[in-house]
Amino acid sequence: MLLSAQNVSKSFGSFLAVRGADLAVAEGEIIGLIGPNGAGKSTFFNCLAGDTVPTTGRVLFDGVDLTRASAEAHARAGIGRTFQVPATFEDMTVLDNVMVGAFLRYRHRRDARESALRVIEMTGLARQSAQRARSLGTPGRKRLEIARVLATGPRLMLLDEALAGLTPTELQQAIALVRRIHELGITLVIVEHIMEVIMTLAQRVLVFNQGHVIAHGEPREIVANEAVIEAYLGRGHRKRRDAQ
Ligand SMILES: Nc1ncnc2c1ncn2[C@@H]1O[C@H](COP(=O)(O)OP(=O)(O)O)[C@@H](O)[C@H]1O
Ligand SMILES: [Mg+2]
Repeated sequence: MLLSAQNVSKSFGSFLAVRGADLAVAEGEIIGLIGPNGAGKSTFFNCLAGDTVPTTGRVLFDGVDLTRASAEAHARAGIGRTFQVPATFEDMTVLDNVMVGAFLRYRHRRDARESALRVIEMTGLARQSAQRARSLGTPGRKRLEIARVLATGPRLMLLDEALAGLTPTELQQAIALVRRIHELGITLVIVEHIMEVIMTLAQRVLVFNQGHVIAHGEPREIVANEAVIEAYLGRGHRKRRDAQ
């Protein structure tokens, strides 16, 4: 397994945001992670990426225990993540933002710049390369985050609602971008509310509710799972399904 998270919990005081979650990801997979707001998805990502230390459990990446390692150590090991609220450097240009990621791999400015420019081209940000991040708007900043993380050369990318808030055209472009990232050999775990994204991209889906993994399976099984419909997809989904 490339990533193995075992019995991961995270508490804030007496509140348990993540409760004994397990996730095993093989190299080359695309896993979808869904569930209602507040279910613990982002907190789980924080545990996987070293942005917080889990209260219980272990996180192994390529066999190495990273449970208590820093976010930078996770990034160096090859785990890249985007944030639900983009964490771009607002006063820096698009190119400089992406170079921040590239400097994880390259010591020399020229190498970092060349690598960043390649990533910018691939992510469709070439025209905005010299603009400040703050001028991009939320969809552009989400794309910029993907670019910055790509520039670190990850083996595993955790995307936290990176495709939210896009127009239908932007959404199709973003889905195509995720496919290209996958074709580079990068393994992906995607948190997303847009079921179209999950259904078209994910090979397996994990469903979170109140900190628990309540279901796990292929996308088709998941959308037919009564517990998932009850907790997340809602009765409208069941009615639409039964009407078909
Ligand atoms: N730093 C924190 N301190 C206290 N509570 C938190 C913190 N971060 C998240 N939570 C709580 O943990 C729960 C899960 O949040 P989150 O992981 O953001 O859920 P999701 O991403 O599934 O919407 C929510 O009830 C949220 O309010
Ligand atoms: Mg979240």
